[in-house]
Amino acid sequence: MSNEAKLELDGKTFTLPTITGSEQERAVDVSSLRANTGYITLDDGYGNTGSCVSKVTFIDGDKGILRYRGIPIEELAEKSNFIETAYLLIYGSLPTRPQLKTFSDLLAEHQFLHEDMKYHFQGFPTGSHPMAILSSMINAASCFDEGLMHWQFGKMKQFDIYVAKLISQVRTIAAYSYRKSQGLPLIYPKQSYKYTPNFLHMLFSMPYEEFDIKPEVAKALDLIFLLHADHEQNCSTSTVRMVASSQANLFASCAAGVCALWGPLHGGANQAVLEMLADIHSSGDDGSKFITAAKDKNSGKKLMGFGHRVYKNHDPRATIIKKSCDEVLSRLNISDPLLDIAKKLEEAALKDSYFVERKLYPNVDFYSGIIMRAIGIPVEMFTVIFAIGRMPGWIANYKEIMEEPKSRIYRPRQIYTGKTINSYVPLDQRK
Ligand code: COA
Repeated sequence: MSNEAKLELDGKTFTLPTITGSEQERAVDVSSLRANTGYITLDDGYGNTGSCVSKVTFIDGDKGILRYRGIPIEELAEKSNFIETAYLLIYGSLPTRPQLKTFSDLLAEHQFLHEDMKYHFQGFPTGSHPMAILSSMINAASCFDEGLMHWQFGKMKQFDIYVAKLISQVRTIAAYSYRKSQGLPLIYPKQSYKYTPNFLHMLFSMPYEEFDIKPEVAKALDLIFLLHADHEQNCSTSTVRMVASSQANLFASCAAGVCALWGPLHGGANQAVLEMLADIHSSGDDGSKFITAAKDKNSGKKLMGFGHRVYKNHDPRATIIKKSCDEVLSRLNISDPLLDIAKKLEEAALKDSYFVERKLYPNVDFYSGIIMRAIGIPVEMFTVIFAIGRMPGWIANYKEIMEEPKSRIYRPRQIYTGKTINSYVPLDQRK
């Protein structure tokens, strides 16, 4: 079989090379197309465009497969934890015991923010969205660090320290963002706590009372971080790569990822799911009226937490998280009417030809919101939790761009459909 593609354009035949990935996924390499033919490819929304080659994460959307560095997500969810998985994503293999210790020690060492950053938090009005504070403060961290200000792309001797700083400090900033949004005093991280319990401590302790961290709550949250740790070239990761390609520093690039993640069609979906369930509940509907509305394009409603650009069979993360959701709720002895509605919606949608024909299945956001609600995470923090989880994936992709000797700035083209040449009309002559 030929490993070249033939393209006929304007009566001429052009040959394009093809490339095959390690999982046999194939691409036609069009990088020389414009130079050779004068044409570009057009792929609105990038549904058929491979923007890079990458070794980090493999997804087969038709089969419902997700693997970090080759390891199935199901195995990691059962046997690993968020910090070990973060190491795996960023450095390419599971850490040895000494490597894990060094990484954990670096995280603990760099978890404190520069004291003066506290004054920046004070500048945000109470009620600000924590995602706005998070992206601003990750970027603002550059002003407090010489290395970030004078970033030497690919030549930073202490890149590992910046990796640890970002993973550790994003959690501190995230907790402070919430405390600030609620007008509560900031709580410092504790050196003796592990990553996820420390986050719960900063989120919920008071100066006069330590928060009682239940192991099952910390475990469920750690699993949510792990399941979100990477998802190949989605909107926010592509944003991080785009910014990184201009050689912006690690913090600035990942702050851009936070902004991309905020939208309701991406990371904001878990918040949107909960809001949808709460609306259904307060309207007295059991979900059936909403299903009908979600199928009607004029209703402006969608079944949030359903559908995925890549998964067209099932989202493997949704299967894992659904199980965790049932466990957490039964261990904490919580019965949640919103969970009952979610289950009814899922059952009805999976039988409904509209959803079946369009291959719309529950995605990870459908159940993560319910777990977070059960463990006391406020709704406006849901997307922030996603951002903390996704940080290792963003860093791994940043590192990949940085270490690629031939990497060049991302600069897509367009097909212009606006006016052809036009003249400036002075203000008093305009109609
Ligand atoms: N509820 C109802 N209809 C939906 C739907 C949903 N959640 N998601 C997709 N559809 C419909 C579309 O209207 C479209 O219908 P049509 O073919 O009759 O026009 C069809 O299914 C294909 O959807 P499309 O928007 O082309 O899919 P996409 O790949 O561009 O978008 C999502 C994927 C995730 C953005 C989309 O499914 C969505 O908005 N889901 C809800 C938000 C969400 O949960 N996001 C989190 C993703 S992890």
